[in-house]
Amino acid sequence: MLDIEKHAAEIWTLYGRHQLGRTFDLPELDSWAWDIPQAGPGIDVLGDVAGLRVLDLGAGVGRHAAHLAALGAHVSAVDASPTQHQRALARYPDTPNLHLVCADAVDHLREAAPYDLIYSVSGLPFLDPHRVLPALANALKPGGRLVFSALHTNSHGVGPSDCVAARPEVLRLPGTDTEHSMHMWVLAPALWEDLLVESGLTFESVTAIDSPRSDRPLSYRLYAARRPERVHSARCSTWRGVGAHGC
Ligand SMILES: C[S@@+](CC[C@H](N)C(=O)[O-])C[C@H]1O[C@@H](n2cnc3c(N)ncnc32)[C@H](O)[C@@H]1O
Repeated sequence: MLDIEKHAAEIWTLYGRHQLGRTFDLPELDSWAWDIPQAGPGIDVLGDVAGLRVLDLGAGVGRHAAHLAALGAHVSAVDASPTQHQRALARYPDTPNLHLVCADAVDHLREAAPYDLIYSVSGLPFLDPHRVLPALANALKPGGRLVFSALHTNSHGVGPSDCVAARPEVLRLPGTDTEHSMHMWVLAPALWEDLLVESGLTFESVTAIDSPRSDRPLSYRLYAARRPERVHSARCSTWRGVGAHGC
C-alpha cells in the first residue's frame, strides 16, 4: 500500500473505533443506495446475483454484502481497517454465504479465486487506481463485472480532479465536530473511463448520483465495466499504457 492509502485506512480505523464505542444501532438497508440514500440507481444495476461469486471492496460494516448474501450470492467482504472489520464481525457472525476478510483489497485480489462480480460502495477511491484497477481486472472472471460508486463533488461543492492524483478530503466522526483529513482519488468521469479501459476492462456506463437536497452539492458517480470474454489481440497494439494522465 502507498503511504497515503495506509493513512486513509488508519483514519477509517479511528472511524470504526469511534462507531464501536457508540450506543446506536445502524438499521439494515431498507433500500440499496450507492452512497446517498434515496438517490441514483439501486440494487437493480447488479442484476440477478444468486449463485454468483461476489466481492464487496471496502465493505465497512458489511450491510450491502449481507444483503446480497441473503439473496443467494456467495459474498466476500474485504476491508483494510481492523475496527471496520470488527464491526462487520459483530453484526454478521456466522452469516450464511458471507465471508468477512480484513485485508488490503489489492492483497486480497491477488490471492483470491476469480469473481463474477466485484462492487464497491464508495470504497474504491481510497486506493490508487493504478494499483487497484489492474488487480481488479485480473480478479474478475472473463465476462465478470465491476460496479463502483465514487465521490464526484464534495459537500463544499468542489468538483472532480482532471488529473490522476489523490487530494485531501475531510471525514467527520458521526455525532462530533472532530474531523480528519485523508487523501482520496476524486476523478472526472473521463479519467475513470480511461483508467478502466487501460486496465483491460470494457467501459459500460457512468450514472449520476446527486443529492436530492437542492442545498447540498454532494454528488457521486456510479461506474460499470466488464472484463471482456476474450482479449482481442488488436488491444495490444492500441495499448496506451497506464499513467498517461498522471500529473
Ligand atoms: C466510505 S467507507 C464505505 C464502507 C461501506 N462500503 C459502506 O458503504 O458502508 C470506505 C471503506 O473502505 C475501506 N478501505 C480503505 N482503504 C482500503 C483498502 N486499501 N482495502 C480495503 N478496504 C479499504 C475503509 O476501511 C472503509 O471501511
